Amino acid sequence: MDFAEKFKSMSKLKWRVLDAIFKNMWDYKFVPAEVIAKTANINPEKIEPILKSLKDERLVENKYTEYLGSAFTYLGLSLYSLWRFVRKGSVSMLGKKMGEGKESLIFNCYSEKFGEAVLKFHKVGYSSFKKVKEKRDYGTLHFTVLMVRSAKNEFKALKRLHGHVSVPKPYDWEGNAVLMELIDAKELFRVRVENPEEVLEMIIEEVREMFSLGIIHGDLSQYNILVNPEGVWFIDFPQHIDLNELESDEEIRMAEDILRRDVENVLNYFKKTYRIEKDINSVLKYIKG
Ligand SMILES: Nc1ncnc2c1ncn2[C@@H]1O[C@H](COP(=O)(O)OP(=O)(O)O)[C@@H](O)[C@H]1O
Ligand SMILES: [Mg+2]
Repeated sequence: MDFAEKFKSMSKLKWRVLDAIFKNMWDYKFVPAEVIAKTANINPEKIEPILKSLKDERLVENKYTEYLGSAFTYLGLSLYSLWRFVRKGSVSMLGKKMGEGKESLIFNCYSEKFGEAVLKFHKVGYSSFKKVKEKRDYGTLHFTVLMVRSAKNEFKALKRLHGHVSVPKPYDWEGNAVLMELIDAKELFRVRVENPEEVLEMIIEEVREMFSLGIIHGDLSQYNILVNPEGVWFIDFPQHIDLNELESDEEIRMAEDILRRDVENVLNYFKKTYRIEKDINSVLKYIKG
């Protein structure tokens, strides 16, 4: 299925139904047809056939219990998020698919407001340790709500860091999608850099700056660092840790472990690939300033 084609084939009525599901997804795991009808201002009798057709297109999943209820699929939520961007003028044209991983779908796109950009659709909801407290969420919320949370978290981190740390400029966030600057660089693991010592120094310096701004990346590795001759860029922040949100000693300890793991990943990679060795404890000490 082509994403852009599916987008064009949607009727106004279907967008209204998806919009109604979105507006109620925080209150119901499966939004009752009746609630959808009311929110979308559509005759309740008309809702069922629309939901059936959306289900056939794999945009929603329907559940029949005491009542008919509906929830997004990943595809449905992503298409809907794109619709929100298009409607507000943040995305003008969808380009090529740049990548599809376990955790996201990445598109090139063009925006009249921002120029060429990257659109990232989040597939995963992170159960970071901060969320353990919200465990009850997992019982009552649909998993697509967690995708929205992931996108929001990523956007939040990029906002905080941009201008201080080398990250893509965040342009906009809607649903499970983040719109950001396109960086013309390759993942660290794909290239053999000529100045590995210098690159490692830059990475450590930036991680230190991130930390001083209250952020630990949380998934740092050669896969989430981009490089080009101008420098290094950090991407992929949905599971970052915000130091200002830590409340207990246990949380602080867990955050320290995560920072150590981040730094270890990088140091191990440079050791393995470039035979550069650095003592993890002194690097951590430097980062924590
Ligand atoms: N802003 C960007 N500019 C250029 N390439 C990007 C950008 N964001 C993501 N990518 C590319 O898409 C891939 C996946 O993005 P990432 O944010 O790491 O998501 P995932 O959670 O799927 O790993 C990256 O490894 C990179 O190749
Ligand atoms: Mg990644």
